[in-house]
Amino acid sequence: MPRQPTSHERMTGQPWDASYHDGPAPWDIDGPQPAVMRIAAEGGFTGLVLDAGCGSGENALHIAHHGLPVVGFDVAETALARARSKAAERGLQVEFVTADALRLDGLGRTFTTVLDCGLFHTFDRDERREYVTNLASVTEPGARVYVLCFSDQGPDTGPHPVSQDELRAAFNGGWDIVAIDAERVHTRFHGSHGAPAWLVTVDRTSHLAGT
Ligand SMILES: C[S@@+](CC[C@H](N)C(=O)[O-])C[C@H]1O[C@@H](n2cnc3c(N)ncnc32)[C@H](O)[C@@H]1O
Repeated sequence: MPRQPTSHERMTGQPWDASYHDGPAPWDIDGPQPAVMRIAAEGGFTGLVLDAGCGSGENALHIAHHGLPVVGFDVAETALARARSKAAERGLQVEFVTADALRLDGLGRTFTTVLDCGLFHTFDRDERREYVTNLASVTEPGARVYVLCFSDQGPDTGPHPVSQDELRAAFNGGWDIVAIDAERVHTRFHGSHGAPAWLVTVDRTSHLAGT
């Protein structure tokens, strides 16, 4: 069954893939996000890593460069094609697959660490709950999720600012929010300091809501 357009696609009137058609997308900074580089340098990624909404793959490729097995998924075929050709050029082994974050059962695997860089904040409240349920279906208790999203603490906030309350509401039941740290996320349209962001560190606990 074809996927339904997300709230973001309904709002823009464009499928995600269109963002990758005319040159680099606004978030495509031709390198990993500094926050992701720091997590990797500190050994924060372990086991099989999932990059959710990987785009053209810079973060996934950076994690793979650290020697970890990585799967990146996205709905944008153009971005995935670019990610695969970068992996080939750099001699890095990353599996880039087409998948919908709101229907992850098809991945057929579980992951030790999940990175979400810029995907969570594109969803509306109901999609976020659905997404988090899907994340539970591809992780085991003890898995760690990092969410890097625009924050609502201005000035110069990004297009989908998220509050701490919204983060807590989404990861409610079966998850332990270990930290919500003020961060910066870099884009092509914010200055050299990037935009205000949250880096959310979440662990899956053994108890899941409804079980
Ligand atoms: C803001 S971009 C961030 C891309 C990448 N993580 C980065 O940092 O460059 C959001 C990405 O999520 C993808 N995306 C949006 N909705 C999705 C969904 N339902 N399932 C999978 N990917 C999705 C988009 O195609 C886009 O590549």
